[in-house]
Amino acid sequence: MLFRLIHLPCRKAALLWLLLGLMSPVLVSQEPQALSPKDPAMRRFVDDLLEKMTLDEKIGQMSQVAYQEPHTVSHEERIRKEQAGSFLFVKDPAEINRLQHIAVDETRLHIPLLFGFDVVHGFRTIYPVPLAMASSWDPSLVEHAQYMAAREASSVGIRWAFAPMVDIARDARWGRIMEGSGEDPFLGSRMAEAQVRGFQGTIGAPDRILACVKHFAGYGAAAGGRDYDQSDLSDEQLWNVYFPPFRAAQAAGAATFMAAYMDLNGVPASGNRYLLHDVLRTDWGFQGFVVSDWETVPNLVTHGFASTPADAAARAANAGVDMEMTSSLYRDFLAEDIKHGSVTQQTIDNAVRSILEAKYKLGLFTNPYATPGLAAKELVSADQRHAARIAAQRSSVLLRNESNILPLKKSMRNLAVIGPLADSKPDTMGSWSLAGKYDDTVTVLSGIRAKAGSSVEVRYAKGVEVERGNASIFDPQFASPPPTLVTGAQREESFKEAIDLVRSSDLTVLVLGELQSMSGERASRATLNLPGEQENLLEAAEATGKPIVLVLINGRPLDITWASQHIPGILEAWYPGTEGGNAVADLLFGDAVPGGKLPVSWPRTAGQEPLYYNHTLSQIPVDRDAMYWDESSAPLYPFGYGLSYASISIHDLKLSSTNLRAAGAIEATVTLHNPSNVDGDQTVELYTHQRAGSASRPVRELKGFERVHLKAGEQRSVTITLHADDLKFWSPATRQTELDPGIFDLWVGDSSAATEHATFAVLP
Ligand code: NOJ
Repeated sequence: MLFRLIHLPCRKAALLWLLLGLMSPVLVSQEPQALSPKDPAMRRFVDDLLEKMTLDEKIGQMSQVAYQEPHTVSHEERIRKEQAGSFLFVKDPAEINRLQHIAVDETRLHIPLLFGFDVVHGFRTIYPVPLAMASSWDPSLVEHAQYMAAREASSVGIRWAFAPMVDIARDARWGRIMEGSGEDPFLGSRMAEAQVRGFQGTIGAPDRILACVKHFAGYGAAAGGRDYDQSDLSDEQLWNVYFPPFRAAQAAGAATFMAAYMDLNGVPASGNRYLLHDVLRTDWGFQGFVVSDWETVPNLVTHGFASTPADAAARAANAGVDMEMTSSLYRDFLAEDIKHGSVTQQTIDNAVRSILEAKYKLGLFTNPYATPGLAAKELVSADQRHAARIAAQRSSVLLRNESNILPLKKSMRNLAVIGPLADSKPDTMGSWSLAGKYDDTVTVLSGIRAKAGSSVEVRYAKGVEVERGNASIFDPQFASPPPTLVTGAQREESFKEAIDLVRSSDLTVLVLGELQSMSGERASRATLNLPGEQENLLEAAEATGKPIVLVLINGRPLDITWASQHIPGILEAWYPGTEGGNAVADLLFGDAVPGGKLPVSWPRTAGQEPLYYNHTLSQIPVDRDAMYWDESSAPLYPFGYGLSYASISIHDLKLSSTNLRAAGAIEATVTLHNPSNVDGDQTVELYTHQRAGSASRPVRELKGFERVHLKAGEQRSVTITLHADDLKFWSPATRQTELDPGIFDLWVGDSSAATEHATFAVLP
């Protein structure tokens, strides 16, 4: 019945839907519910539709159009001819509804469009970047933030986020490290599934959107940290390090996946049937659809893999890329490929089926439009701002706090806020803030000013300016602001003005880091220095002998080795988003207490990269930190590290049993004590090490964590459950997942350097 209705001219259909809706709501509204791809009603609906579709209409569904890209055929005509199944980058609800009306009202089959967007860390309200969100070690916070992002995006009619990005990144030079959850597969998996739950909730609810797990797979292992460069990964690394977050996201019900740009072990990911079919569909049972990344289909030719564009279209479709992003090789060549037999009709039908099922599950066939007026209520609402502020508070990491320089006292007379990032709105937002607005954004300077009120005089100087380079292709607003310090004399004067301000102030907050465009896609760096003259500014400020606090705004660990020895207070705020300045001010003045922990090992210098805590033991492990002639090989700060104004100890580790059987679990209990007079959070982290087995296993692996809140003076116990299943790994000996019997070490503590230790045995 429903299917027949969509063939009626739309106005009549809408009237009928309405009437039927009054009589029988079941027929016309897809109630929010978990619809399995095997849902019989959906199956019938999609089968009927597929039967009616021409090959060209099917290929149209497999094509995604980039709204702002130059085009020879108008978008309207493209839609009317049913040559587009999806659009990306439309963000205006009126325009989305206009295009949607063309698709629903003016086409033969009335199939709605699916609008997608990079809702990476918020839509209009920008939340902290994903690396920051992972620093919260709080999956429920992460889930909530992506739910809030889904509310904003869906209010304008966007129903598909190109997120979460779950690529493991072990190399801080790689610009996209800021888009993921860092280096660890366990933490990354918890963050991946939380984001999927946040975006999707129950698929079909009007305020939820589809997740797109990207970039499948191995993109984070780009050689030399160079974006887009090839990844060479052993099966052991793929299965044990790079796949787990993807697997977790898929198990959490992710509706779509995005294929990656680069070559994986000699086969481009977007033409890689092993990845997209054998692993994703056959092994893991994924039943959603896969979209290519931007032009990765034509790039199969660029890679020297496909011989012609027609070959590229065939190879991508046969590998399992169901929808082509941006480029038009599917539209231009798939029909010909079918004629020549290089692609089967079945391949096309499978792809189209999974795309139509996703649209059906979302409820697009019954409710394709953005609700008029909703966006005005939802975008940067007070609720959104509140959630973004809490997120930024909880994701900042206190790296150093000598002599309790922090929190700042509101009793000081005056405070200097200095640095090129102190009052920069784009840089507070970070990359992938495409729908964010500078004017919504609270910088650190404005946050501090608002907090200090009239009691503390706040004075600002930029000090130095960092070269912005070319305008970012990822942020059209980014053309501004133009440099203000142009001549050498202007630069000298600005530097001097800042240092004079430091001298004449009770305390200085220096806000340094990286510009928005230095971190993200196509933003890899060969060094990890504070760009430009910032290090000189920092050292000159310290040389005045006045108290200095450093706030970092950035998307990757930076080389702050000098600062870690000379600057008493260092707060890593990452790119903290729309409410970032307020959150930083809350933290600096103690109205919020830092509790974030590093999701990456913090290097001393770029030469240590790739750097990660979960390496295997190798020759002379006792000398592990002396593997270089000219530098320690230990991180500056270990994975999982972060301080608080409260000092919460973790001790008295007890295991519920020292034996563990397959499918069983043991509980590790520790006592936490907060002897300080400040309430605060501590994250209890549990690590294991398998002493011997069918493969050499990492020296430590995170296997459990919990962020808990303790009142001043409170003491309490915390229990973390370790499941035998979490000790399984992909063994090169058998080429499958194994649980090796034997002795394991277990540590619990507040970082990957945890010292509370016990052992247990996995029994055969
Ligand atoms: C390319 C990026 O790699 C991907 O992450 C993004 O979702 C698409 N472009 C669309 O913007």
